[in-house]
Amino acid sequence: MWKRIFVVVCTSTILSSFGTAASPLYGRADLAVKHEWALVPHKWEWQGPAPANHHVDLRIGLKQGKLDELIATLYEVSDPIHARYGQHLTKTQAEALVAPTEETTQAIHDWLDFHGVDLSSIAYSPAGDWLSLQLPLAQVETMLSTKYHTYRHLETKDTVVRTLSYSLPRALHDHIDVIHPTTMFGSMRDFRATFHVTDDSARSDTVVASNGTTVKGPAGQDIPVSCNTTVTPACLQALYRTEGYVPKAANKGNRIGIAGYLEQFVNFADLQTFFTMFRPDAVGANVTVISVDGGLNDQTMPGDEANLDTQYTEGLTFPTPNVYYTTPGTAPTINDSVTPPQRDEPYIDWLQFVLSHDDMPQTFTTSYGGDERACNLFAQLGARGASVMFSSGDGGVGAGTCGTNDGTNRTIFQPVFPATCPFVTSVGATFHIAPERGIDFSQGGFSVYFPRPLYQEAAVPPFLNRLGSTYAGLFNPAGRGVPDVSAQGEGFQVVVGGRVESVGGTSASSPTFAGIISLLNDFRISQGKPSLGFLNPLLYSVGAPAFTDITLGNNPGCGTPGFNATEGWDAITGLGTPDFVNFQELLGRL
Ligand SMILES: *[C@@H]1O[C@H](CO)[C@@H](O)[C@H](O)[C@H]1NC(C)=O
Ligand SMILES: *[C@@H]1O[C@H](CO)[C@@H](O)[C@H](O)[C@H]1NC(C)=O
Ligand SMILES: *[C@@H]1O[C@H](CO)[C@@H](O)[C@H](O)[C@H]1NC(C)=O
Ligand SMILES: *[C@@H]1O[C@H](CO)[C@@H](O)[C@H](O)[C@H]1NC(C)=O
Ligand SMILES: *[C@@H]1O[C@H](CO)[C@@H](O)[C@H](O)[C@H]1NC(C)=O
Ligand SMILES: *[C@@H]1O[C@H](CO)[C@@H](O)[C@H](O)[C@H]1NC(C)=O
Repeated sequence: MWKRIFVVVCTSTILSSFGTAASPLYGRADLAVKHEWALVPHKWEWQGPAPANHHVDLRIGLKQGKLDELIATLYEVSDPIHARYGQHLTKTQAEALVAPTEETTQAIHDWLDFHGVDLSSIAYSPAGDWLSLQLPLAQVETMLSTKYHTYRHLETKDTVVRTLSYSLPRALHDHIDVIHPTTMFGSMRDFRATFHVTDDSARSDTVVASNGTTVKGPAGQDIPVSCNTTVTPACLQALYRTEGYVPKAANKGNRIGIAGYLEQFVNFADLQTFFTMFRPDAVGANVTVISVDGGLNDQTMPGDEANLDTQYTEGLTFPTPNVYYTTPGTAPTINDSVTPPQRDEPYIDWLQFVLSHDDMPQTFTTSYGGDERACNLFAQLGARGASVMFSSGDGGVGAGTCGTNDGTNRTIFQPVFPATCPFVTSVGATFHIAPERGIDFSQGGFSVYFPRPLYQEAAVPPFLNRLGSTYAGLFNPAGRGVPDVSAQGEGFQVVVGGRVESVGGTSASSPTFAGIISLLNDFRISQGKPSLGFLNPLLYSVGAPAFTDITLGNNPGCGTPGFNATEGWDAITGLGTPDFVNFQELLGRL
């Protein structure tokens, strides 16, 4: 996940007001800064000039024509008491709302033409709201009135070519939302920080061992006591009460999708080993791997994250078809102008790919993201009837990202995008059973960018009231609160390279919650009802009583003890953990 929530500096500084304009519209006189950073973003360091002859895979996000209507529609079709509940949009209907206006498209074409760009070389997203073109860096520098440099990530050592500021003709500011790659720093590999291997010497005979002792769960169900520290699909089935539910809608098109990223490959042999050990009835079941833009699935490089995701989504949802998307990530080298330009924003490729199909899985769990603009793409997924889960992050109230990037280095709790996008369901982590507790790394807090959505209007203020003036000034109380929900996130038994590892992180929580949602989608679809789509308006209203409220734990960070889990919604476990049987009863009435 991208750890790049920094404070945005003003976007309207006049860059230059001199010079003779070659065109009244696009001359230098009219340029204004579109976006800039005061400092090199956290964890990145300047390395040197951009390589000569560097080529850029430029992405231009145009202003979407009827975005407001898309979002209004999203909320209506996701609101269980609205007449339009469940009336998801088709691909064509959604695209009609995000398509840019004629005026916008024309303005961008005029600008590109002014700079000598061959308009026939441009590739468009299905709705025409993203343009993609390959250009020499020098030309991009002229167009954006900027200089690019090479920056290196202090931990991953990834290098990227970026700028700290770029400008556009003032007349284009309202037509262009964002241009990549420019000021967005981020490394797909950052996401690896949202899971960790706690014990890679776990042995199959010990991990499955349960001496038969059970404890009572919150609904009176029996849970093996071993689940307190060693999590298997059977533990999650018992704890969240999906045990005994047989999916019925596999032949009616219900599917679950897992988004993969750079160098994270699903290993087929490991999946079978996992089933043999932890879900014997699923032996022989497979996962369908879909390559997005040439993404690979190298069987000699089993990925912890990819295996964790698929072993647990399929371990919970079998026989529901599981689909793994493999998208190439940022290329590690940047000094080569001969090979195709590095893929700077693979998440956009993945979202566009999924949105470009009429049919898509009803449930997604995703492990990476990017800038705030991608949030609108999640709104499209939701409006088309998909539920999108994201791990909330593993930094407590903030790890390593506590200082603002506006030059003042003020301490602030900064939850990470995309969990902060109001159109996804962000999933925090718990551990232990009887009782389940919020775990210290479970990231939570309040978005600096996104205001509190209407669906949180009842649930979040009681938490803030209880908090009083504690941490005043350290977070944005008017921001979108995360996480929305939580699920187990420690001690997951995962097979990687033939060995069992014990893995933790909100990366484990998201596929777990998604697996349960996929089963609920199965339940809905098998009753001839539409899929659940965007979940939050449901979860925060009639859905709230179906959760087990988690009231223990806190998430330290930024030199503080963080937030406490409390009764009702809180900024470490959200509304709590799911109870499938409660949800089934509730959905049966909708
Ligand atoms: C089973 O294991 C639990 C936890 O390790 C322990 O407390 C309990 O005494 C054991 N029960 C038996 C019958 O061995
Ligand atoms: C779970 O493990 C914790 C830490 O070891 C322990 O304090 C707690 O009693 C255990 N709970 C159960 C139900 O065994
Ligand atoms: C799963 O699918 C992959 C790719 O098609 C294939 O190589 C593998 O043998 C399959 N595994 C099983 C158990 O069918
Ligand atoms: C350029 O890339 C090559 C591999 O393509 C690598 O061996 C070399 O060290 C790189 N040079 C620099 C300056 O990064
Ligand atoms: C910001 O402040 C923190 C601690 O208060 C310090 O560790 C860090 O180096 C500072 N960062 C910058 C860029 O000054
Ligand atoms: C969390 O709970 C502890 C113990 O009750 C309390 O001392 C502390 O003030 C609480 N912190 C916050 C941020 O609410």
